[in-house]
Amino acid sequence: MPKILKTISDVRDFTSLYSLINRRIGFVPTMGALHEGHLELGKKARNECDCLIYSIFVNPIQFGPKEDLDKYPRDIKDDLEKLDSIGTDAVFIPDNSAMYPNGFNSFVDIGEIGNILCGKSRPGHFRGVATVVTKLFNIVCCDQAYFGKKDYQQYIIIKKMVRDLNIPVEIIGADTVREKDGLAMSSRNAYLSKEERISATVLYKALNYAKDNFLNFESKDGLISKTIEFIKREKSANIDYVEIRNTADLSDVQSLKKGKFVLLLAVRFGNARLIDNIALN
Ligand code: PAF
Repeated sequence: MPKILKTISDVRDFTSLYSLINRRIGFVPTMGALHEGHLELGKKARNECDCLIYSIFVNPIQFGPKEDLDKYPRDIKDDLEKLDSIGTDAVFIPDNSAMYPNGFNSFVDIGEIGNILCGKSRPGHFRGVATVVTKLFNIVCCDQAYFGKKDYQQYIIIKKMVRDLNIPVEIIGADTVREKDGLAMSSRNAYLSKEERISATVLYKALNYAKDNFLNFESKDGLISKTIEFIKREKSANIDYVEIRNTADLSDVQSLKKGKFVLLLAVRFGNARLIDNIALN
């Protein structure tokens, strides 16, 4: 079983032993309810580093007041078994007071990129993510940290943040892991009813439709409208956004003639708000 580290000094004692002898530390931050997507990140880290550490912390400051903080799935016993199966060395499982002691009041401001796409309907979400990830990096002192590209905006924000703030951690992105029918793995898939789970398969089909038809469109608006039409064939789909952005930095796209683009979407099915994306070219 991985060593369970509860306090910040437990983590520092553990990782400093590795740093002292120049061993590479790979880190996978998570909120638990682990699935194959999380484990793939760890397997990649296991191959590339000498020590593999996860964190499991449902970070309250990245949830809005009406969001699913209380309902967020938690199953530490199952998580530990999964982490054990891939040879995890240690897991940091802090409580809220270790991460946010009384008087905590400093946040990482990531600017405008935190207000677009998911940031529009989840104000403050990425500020909370950037803050907790910075704290975790300062606690774990890892060499490499691994993030899934399903959360593409989060991945780009973290990469930008470490560059802007000179945080000495290399950010590694890993491809989205999917169920057999294409649905992106997510802890929030647990909120889907049987019918919604079937309806949600429209997302990956819509992403592929957009990719396959990309060359037929010069304007992004045309491709976005057709993708929205595709998703709306599923009556239970409630679209938050479908957008096309530049792959490298999520900046606005003027024309589809030149550049590399990613189509990103967020769609609700009942209580589940699902996100996904696809590289168009
Ligand atoms: O992607 C997640 O699970 C979370 O946003 C993260 C990176 C662990 C920060 O709480």
